[in-house]
Amino acid sequence: MNELAGKHIVLGLSGGVACYKAADLCRLLIKEGATVQVVMTEAAGQFMTPVTMQALSGRRVYSSQWDAREPNNMPHINLSREADAILIAPCSADFIARLVQGRADELLSLLCLARPVDRVPLLLAPAMNREMWAHPATQRNLAQVAQDGAVVLGVGNGDQACGETGDGRMLEPSELLEELVAFFVPKVLANRRVLITAGPTFEAMDPVRGITNLSSGKMGFSIARAAREAGADVTLVAGPVHLPTPRGVRRVDVQSAQEMLAAVEQHAQSASVFIATAAVADWRPATSSSQKIKKDGSGQPPVLGFVENPDILATVARSPHALTGDLFCVGFAAESHDLLAHATAKRARKGVPLLVGNIGPATFGQDDNALLLVDAQGHRELPRASKRTLAHQLVAEIARRLPEQ
Ligand code: C5P
Repeated sequence: MNELAGKHIVLGLSGGVACYKAADLCRLLIKEGATVQVVMTEAAGQFMTPVTMQALSGRRVYSSQWDAREPNNMPHINLSREADAILIAPCSADFIARLVQGRADELLSLLCLARPVDRVPLLLAPAMNREMWAHPATQRNLAQVAQDGAVVLGVGNGDQACGETGDGRMLEPSELLEELVAFFVPKVLANRRVLITAGPTFEAMDPVRGITNLSSGKMGFSIARAAREAGADVTLVAGPVHLPTPRGVRRVDVQSAQEMLAAVEQHAQSASVFIATAAVADWRPATSSSQKIKKDGSGQPPVLGFVENPDILATVARSPHALTGDLFCVGFAAESHDLLAHATAKRARKGVPLLVGNIGPATFGQDDNALLLVDAQGHRELPRASKRTLAHQLVAEIARRLPEQ
């Protein structure tokens, strides 16, 4: 997907070993449709040559405020006016200090100072040794630049080039890309807590076997990512799936429907939206053996009894928090035919204001889907698109149905 189509990004490099990651970041930004103008400090040039960044961005790199290539000789004005965002990656401790002081004696800090603050956002991806990161001067400076309007992205934790281990690594290029994409998404769910279930459940028969289903969890994970990008605080209760956790999303892993219900009940009280995308097993084995069930040589398979699982969505939708309208519940229906009729009936049965229907066999495990939204007013189709696109559309549909806060 061209998630940054039409965006012009000024990618600023200050001095640090993490400059090597900026090369990959530049490629990722371009792959997502952005145009990238690289600006490097003199210190950055010690770690990475402009040749590499020019080749990757397809544009000449700027490093000097005295660059005479600009007809008006004002690269700091021209570069900062053209940008949809300025991303400094890596952003060194020294560069943060320069921003705090409003220094203007080299091009990158000069163009940050010269940018129209209300129109051109400044995002910082700090990168430094853990002691430098933890130093009160750095933390004080970070608080100040944030107060002055910069968006300070997080740092990673782990091995550092200096041989030490701790906080201060620059986020990985893919993480920075995710942060930048998220930054441009309208914050229609700001100050909302969203709880989502996703994936299948696994109902154990014994320690090694159980029943489950083919839900991939992709739709629920896409919605979790989209909700977080829209500004929500997101908790994702996930059955057994091997999907990476979207950035900034709190993930609670569960196995069975009963565990899923317990986790959901724990978080539902403080949530304002509950989206049930999980394919919860309708039944579980009546008994689960603590030891592996062995063949007994009789040729007779064991007789399995089943009991019904709790209906998580219906339980939550009947809770006082939902009945008073403080928790907006959204259900999903995976059907094989007669989608509108089944989705309408399911909405009534579950007692939810919004039910989202999809054709199960056409979507399980796929990266795209088509949705049918059914509410008290009627229905609306969201035509076939990637789950990521649909997740954003669904988040917008949910947001406009929420009570004002
Ligand atoms: O009844 P059915 O399984 O078709 O309903 C689907 C919807 O109900 C989905 O939103 C699913 O996440 C939710 N559900 C649930 N707990 C169950 C069964 C379904 O939350 N035990």
